[in-house]
Amino acid sequence: MSAPTAARDVLADVDPDVLARSEAALATVGLDPLGLDTTASFEVRDPATEEVIARPADYTPDEALIALDRADRAGAAWARTTARHRSDVLHRAYDLIIEQRDRLALVITREMGKPLAEAYGEVQYAADYVRWYAEEAVRPAGNYRESPRGGSTILTSRAPVGTALLITPWNFPMAMATRKIAPAIAVGCGAVVKPAALTPLTTLVVAEIFVQAGVPEELVQVVTTSKASPLSTALLADPRVRKVSFTGSTGVGSTLLALAAQHVVKSSMELGGNAPLLVFDDADLERAVEGALVAKLRNGGQSCVAANRILVQDGIADAFVEGFTERMSQVVMGNPLGDVQLGPVIDDRAVANFRGWVDDAVARGAELRTGGSAPDRPGHFFEATVLDRVPESAAIAQEEIFGPIASIARFTTEDEGVARANSTPFGLASYIFTADVDRALDVADRLDAGMVGINHGIVSNVAAPFGGIKASGLGREGSSEGLEEYQEIRFYNVARRG
Ligand code: SIN
Repeated sequence: MSAPTAARDVLADVDPDVLARSEAALATVGLDPLGLDTTASFEVRDPATEEVIARPADYTPDEALIALDRADRAGAAWARTTARHRSDVLHRAYDLIIEQRDRLALVITREMGKPLAEAYGEVQYAADYVRWYAEEAVRPAGNYRESPRGGSTILTSRAPVGTALLITPWNFPMAMATRKIAPAIAVGCGAVVKPAALTPLTTLVVAEIFVQAGVPEELVQVVTTSKASPLSTALLADPRVRKVSFTGSTGVGSTLLALAAQHVVKSSMELGGNAPLLVFDDADLERAVEGALVAKLRNGGQSCVAANRILVQDGIADAFVEGFTERMSQVVMGNPLGDVQLGPVIDDRAVANFRGWVDDAVARGAELRTGGSAPDRPGHFFEATVLDRVPESAAIAQEEIFGPIASIARFTTEDEGVARANSTPFGLASYIFTADVDRALDVADRLDAGMVGINHGIVSNVAAPFGGIKASGLGREGSSEGLEEYQEIRFYNVARRG
């Protein structure tokens, strides 16, 4: 079943100096952030080698409640600081992140496995959220309205919502942390942050940098744990938590929403995706190929906005598949500390899923154009893979792949393309490639998606309201909308004379 691939030997050399610098960066991470002398710990492994790289504290629900107590008290004082002060602190945090970008990128790559060049990209993306919210912190938060019948003036204001529980995923361990922490700090909230057990180290460094920048020590409490569910249950049972923001699967998001319902907690949920990428006959071929490549392979395909179903119109399909397969077959896979475009995926379970989905698709008639295999070596690697003519009955046409496999199907008419794009319970990102501006905007309006990339393989941007519809979630992150998720609106109805 294996098809030709140009992927270099996955044992590609790693510069010993880079390896040593990454070890030094890991050694700087404080592993008991609550300072409770907790003896229980759990293992964090490098997905490229499967070696244990750190053992952070494994906090219990009771210890998480200590963290909540601290964040809640610190938050009450922080809410009384001026917007200018909070903005200045965030600006300093931005500068410190940029100063410490090597340390951060190396830690990201060691615990998460993305190629080092992409880790540097994530550091900048994450820092940009901090800078954005430093700027947003001082924007006017209220407004003034006259009652239409006269007799009163309505003044609206925004107040910090209160203590936030921030639950972050493993795929962008830094950017997803700052996208939640920075707006919370900007408006005056305390926060308990629970990073993914697979990648807790980056968040520990980020929290340390916020303190260096002037954030009060107890305001942002990082609670590392291998048992997420009991911890979230205990925290959401406590009425001091007034906000929960989660990035992860739709299943876990639904459970958290049910827990949040107990105390009617304001909730933002950035959940699963199944992004369609539509290439129409009139698309610029090169732009479509390059756009699809980045929409598929950014972060090794491990992103909720990754192109999950590539849908190509009949007239351009053969040329697109040929060009795209050529580019995918040139992808260099290897240790992410080296000069590669594709690192490992996060764990063995992912690799087992990929094998199963590729076999199933081929058995149902899909054509394997390149890749399709996992090398026999330590580390969780899977080749950049292209499957063409994938039937809708194949599991890979339904599942969120979260890996470097491109699943391509073909369509004939615009209506058919849109119908197939919308045929899932999800509605996060989608992508359209066409040279016709009318078509681009009409199709974008008809797609069930919170975000649409038009002739662009990336939707993410700090100035954009990131989020989805349907089973993909509630609320928005980033941009000014992301700030409002940490605020409550109040109004004063002021009687006027006459
Ligand atoms: C995600 O995959 O969860 C977020 C990706 C992004 O911000 O681009």
